[in-house]
Amino acid sequence: MNVQVTAGKLADLKTEALALGFLEGDMELAGPKAEADEISGGLIAKVLASGDFKGKANQVLVLHTPDKAIKRFALVGLGKAADLSLDKMRNGGGKGTSSLRDLGVKDVAVLIPGPSHAKTDLGKDWPALAQAVAEGALLSLWSMHDYRTKERDELKAVESVTFVTEDAGAKAQLESAVGVARVLAESITETRNLVMHPSNVVTATRMAEEAVRIGKEVGLEVTILEKADMEKLGMGGVLGVNQGSVEPPKFIIMTHNGGEKGEAPIAVIGKGITFDTGGISIKPGEGMEKMKYDMAGGAATIGIMRAIAKLGVKRNVVGLVPATDNMPSGTAIKPGDILTSYNGQTVEVLNTDAEGRLVLMDAIAYAVKDLKAQAIIDMATLTGACVIALGMEAIGVLGNNQPLVDRILACGEKTGDRGWQLPLWKEYNELLKSDIADMKNIGGREAGTITAACFLNRFTDNTPWVHLDIAGTAWTEREKPYRPKGPTGVPVRMVVELLSNWEPVSNKA
Ligand code: BES
Ligand code: MN
Ligand code: ZN
Repeated sequence: MNVQVTAGKLADLKTEALALGFLEGDMELAGPKAEADEISGGLIAKVLASGDFKGKANQVLVLHTPDKAIKRFALVGLGKAADLSLDKMRNGGGKGTSSLRDLGVKDVAVLIPGPSHAKTDLGKDWPALAQAVAEGALLSLWSMHDYRTKERDELKAVESVTFVTEDAGAKAQLESAVGVARVLAESITETRNLVMHPSNVVTATRMAEEAVRIGKEVGLEVTILEKADMEKLGMGGVLGVNQGSVEPPKFIIMTHNGGEKGEAPIAVIGKGITFDTGGISIKPGEGMEKMKYDMAGGAATIGIMRAIAKLGVKRNVVGLVPATDNMPSGTAIKPGDILTSYNGQTVEVLNTDAEGRLVLMDAIAYAVKDLKAQAIIDMATLTGACVIALGMEAIGVLGNNQPLVDRILACGEKTGDRGWQLPLWKEYNELLKSDIADMKNIGGREAGTITAACFLNRFTDNTPWVHLDIAGTAWTEREKPYRPKGPTGVPVRMVVELLSNWEPVSNKA
């Protein structure tokens, strides 16, 4: 997609359609909106006076002005000034462009009035506001049609988006804000596509190939550990989960050297289960097809690494994705089997469907042992319990370091990838006691999200660590303007925000 930024008179703008936002009840046509009204021949003013459009959140009214220089105007509601947030701005940007896309418009522009027209407190950080609008606009246009062979000419896609402000003095700020939004949107597109493809296409091998391709495109070092390498290293978790499969496992390592030489890296780890049948502890058939998204954490890792490389984040960051499917077969692991993790701990597998933690334990141990990471962030569609507890709105957040948890929660609020903390108290550890090994891989029905995190914490060796359970948020059936149905790309924006403003954390917290 072609993305542009312009600043200056709207009369000079060449576009098929222009989207412009209105706060609820604020129908004033000043500055650039007055210019837009003039181009529309006064139609915008007449429609606003009619009361048909009130600016309620996500309300859209498209005006047709076939005889004018701009053929369509999309009036987009942003809701009440008091409720305004960056996420409302994302929704506004998304609603404007996606509504025009649905009409078949190929070339759209989005008005972002300059800093002097910002009407709420949100306008004090104008670049953040502009970035949010641009993120929403670009993210809303994602769709994937790779598997449609019929009526392809009826598919609608925007080819060009122009972000425009009337304030020539704000052009540089707008360019950089749109630049960041664009990197995020393109990286999230990679993540969403990886998640959307079915598991017969995105195998562990294909995930590794995509990581290599993206690494080349943006300048990341990418290393793939093969099955034989993992056997040599003793990664009993990944190998155990892979044991029932005919697809070879891959351990993807993506390295961004943005920081000082010798500075300990931050490890970003994503669960890469390309399909989760449950294994011998097989899942019920209904809804099982959705388990292609069990690699969403891994796909987010790849998206995050792409984004930070493109943004030139000045830190050393290593992305790790243990990738395999979880299959039942004559060679699969069985309940009661005992696996040994990369750092030598034994795990009694009482349920082969609790496989995510088994691949993550090796990756976390690798981050501690081999990378000597200064901090670890892991992302995983880890527990159904998280979907029950928090639904599709909040990422489950747990960690061993409260300042780091607080920071990631704040990044969630800012970026719209919102999280909510659950306790990681020592008491819950009791539930993981095994009669035969160092631990078992399930804690029973109660507090499933917490016991899963307790399990992971046994491999962190007190390295500051935060775990993001994205089982409820990585995929959505309830769309938002900038989050169409399907893979959401959560938590790419949240983690990129954290890494972009990284400060060392003490491990004493
Ligand atoms: N991938 C699932 C978790 C999941 C469930 C993700 C629903 C997205 C939507 C995970 O591997 C799993 O099966 N977890 C089990 C753990 C249990 C056996 C302790 C679960 O949540 O039921
Ligand atoms: Mn499972
Ligand atoms: Zn799983």
